[in-house]
Amino acid sequence: MHSPTILVVDDEQLIRWALVSRLSDEGYRVLEAGTAAEALARHGEGVDLVLLDFKLPDDDGLSVLKRIKETDNDTLVIMLTAHSSVDMAVEAMKRGAYHYANKPFNLDEIVLLVQKALETTTLRRELRVLRATQAQPYSIERLVGESEAMVGVRALLRKVAVSPASTVLLTGESGTGKDLAAKVIHYASDRAARPFMNITCSALPEPLLESELFGHERGAFTGADRQKRGLLETADGGTVFLDEIGEMMPMLQSKLLRFLEERAFKRVGGTADIRVQVRVIAATNRNLEEEVKRGRFREDLYYRLNVMPIVMPALRQRADDIPRLIAYYVDSYSSEFRKRIRQVAPSAIERLKAYPWPGNVRELRNAVERAMLLAEGDELTVDHFPVVERRTPELGESVELPAGGVDLEQLERSLVVQALQRSGWNQTRAAALLGVNRDQIRYRIEKFKLEKPV
Ligand SMILES: Nc1ncnc2c1ncn2[C@@H]1O[C@H](COP(=O)(O)OP(=O)(O)OP(=O)(O)O)[C@@H](O)[C@H]1O
Ligand SMILES: [Mg+2]
Repeated sequence: MHSPTILVVDDEQLIRWALVSRLSDEGYRVLEAGTAAEALARHGEGVDLVLLDFKLPDDDGLSVLKRIKETDNDTLVIMLTAHSSVDMAVEAMKRGAYHYANKPFNLDEIVLLVQKALETTTLRRELRVLRATQAQPYSIERLVGESEAMVGVRALLRKVAVSPASTVLLTGESGTGKDLAAKVIHYASDRAARPFMNITCSALPEPLLESELFGHERGAFTGADRQKRGLLETADGGTVFLDEIGEMMPMLQSKLLRFLEERAFKRVGGTADIRVQVRVIAATNRNLEEEVKRGRFREDLYYRLNVMPIVMPALRQRADDIPRLIAYYVDSYSSEFRKRIRQVAPSAIERLKAYPWPGNVRELRNAVERAMLLAEGDELTVDHFPVVERRTPELGESVELPAGGVDLEQLERSLVVQALQRSGWNQTRAAALLGVNRDQIRYRIEKFKLEKPV
């Protein structure tokens, strides 16, 4: 694990020296600064804790404290004061200082204070991740992203959750968060205290899926030696999530439709109608409209489900969220792996933003997890992300020169246009997609006289 970094800020060289040598002996990485300006500059170097003098030649410690807290509220600050002024100490604590120590101080005491403080940060970081993932496992904030698309989706999910809508259809490519969204809807609704039941329609053969969903009476089929309640009954008052609804067989589609329309169903082998109050959330990564056209999905069921459609955007359509998602996963894996990653190289972020992520957030999460396992230092670089690193060799095998040849200029133009479209005319990202630099993209835009569509 990375050893914690401490910044010692004092204009008195002797005090600085005493603190630096003692804390280094204790195994910490120690930085020093003699002025406020220097302190703020060095604070950017991944500092966990600051020992901060009240009086500095160019500014006072309190305003440095304020600036530090503004940049990173997790940094702990211990104030050092020569005159034991209670007022100052109180003010410092109000502004977020962890503690203060009076000069002249005892070095052993400082070391103890530092140890205790650092335990607090570790705990605080762990707690934050824990809160985000466990205390409220499916709070709406779990859906990370500030892009217009994601903000819109969150607003819609909130609205749907509290609405009386009994049916919701979630669509979107694999890995875009449909499962997560279904849980978010359930836990943000007044059904939260009731069960959330989940079944994947493609996972079971039709008769089994039917009895899982609707239950069966004793003797309904061979082996049905007792009555069984289905998910719809178990989830009464709550939510049933039907994943991969596009794979549901036709007979079951009609039974489901009847249930959605009448809110009643019969157990397999039963005659009595059973009434329950459940919300059905269906999800699919197929294009249901297309399935309807091909006769594989009932049109009436499609319309019934499509009353409240929510489309989860593909990650490449909201590439601006990528840095945030990376930070989110770096944070969660940091505590899980007990690894400290101080930054992700900006060049890596650019490449990750340009990559099209066919597996969406799931693929990104796996890529970050892998990168963190590979990383030995405290920085993630392009080298840790093979997915964006090695593309050309794979491409080399899949692209074959047609027998009739190609027009190389035209091919180049087409690739440049596609890269620009995909990146929304962001030249840096388009360049990364093609493995060239920005100047080379600009040159080609001029060469081909390309214009950004309005
Ligand atoms: N906006 C998001 N913010 C944070 N994590 C997300 C987001 N979207 C998806 N995830 C995470 O990505 C992973 C895949 O999401 P999920 O399983 O919900 O996808 P899905 O749409 O159901 O995919 P599939 O169609 O393959 O079933 C999960 O770990 C989920 O927590
Ligand atoms: Mg899913």
